[in-house]
Amino acid sequence: MAEGRISRGKFLRFGGALGVGAASASLIAACGTGDPGEAGENGNGEPAGENGNSEAPEEAANGEAIAQESEVPAGSAFEFEDEGEPAVLVHLEDGSFVAYSAVCTHQGCDVSYSEGSATLDCPCHGSVFDPASGGEPTGGPAQNPLPEIPVEVRDGAVVRA
Ligand code: FES
Repeated sequence: MAEGRISRGKFLRFGGALGVGAASASLIAACGTGDPGEAGENGNGEPAGENGNSEAPEEAANGEAIAQESEVPAGSAFEFEDEGEPAVLVHLEDGSFVAYSAVCTHQGCDVSYSEGSATLDCPCHGSVFDPASGGEPTGGPAQNPLPEIPVEVRDGAVVRA
C-alpha cells in the first residue's frame, strides 16, 4: 500500500527542489539573454597607447643652455639630447661640468649616470665610463671613450659650446 506513495515530507523536499531548479533556470535564462549594447562596451574612450609619463629630454643646440647650474648639484647628472642623440651633462665633484654622448661605444645602448660610483654605466653589457677622465671606459667590453660634448658655464647656465 505504501508503494508508489510519497510521504508528505519527501513531497515537500521534492517540490522545493523543483521550485529552486525552476527559479535557477529563470535566472540563467535572464543572464543568458545578454544585451548586445552591454556586450560591446569595453573601453572608456581614452586613446590607446597614452602613457602620460614619457618626458623626452630637451634638445640643446650650440650656444643654448642645457640646464641651469643650480639644477644640477655636484655629483649628479642631467640628461638631454644633442643633435637628436641622447646625451648626459655631469656636474663633477670638483665643481666642473662635462657632457658626453650617452650612446655606449660598445653596441649603442644608452648609458646613465650612477651617483653611487660617479660613473656612466651601460645596462646592456656592463661597460663603465669615467666622466671625470674624458669618458674613458674603466670596465666592461667598451674600448673607446664616450664622445665628449663641449660645454661652458655662462651666467649661471651650462651652455652647449
Ligand atoms: S652596449 Fe654598452 S656595454 Fe654593450
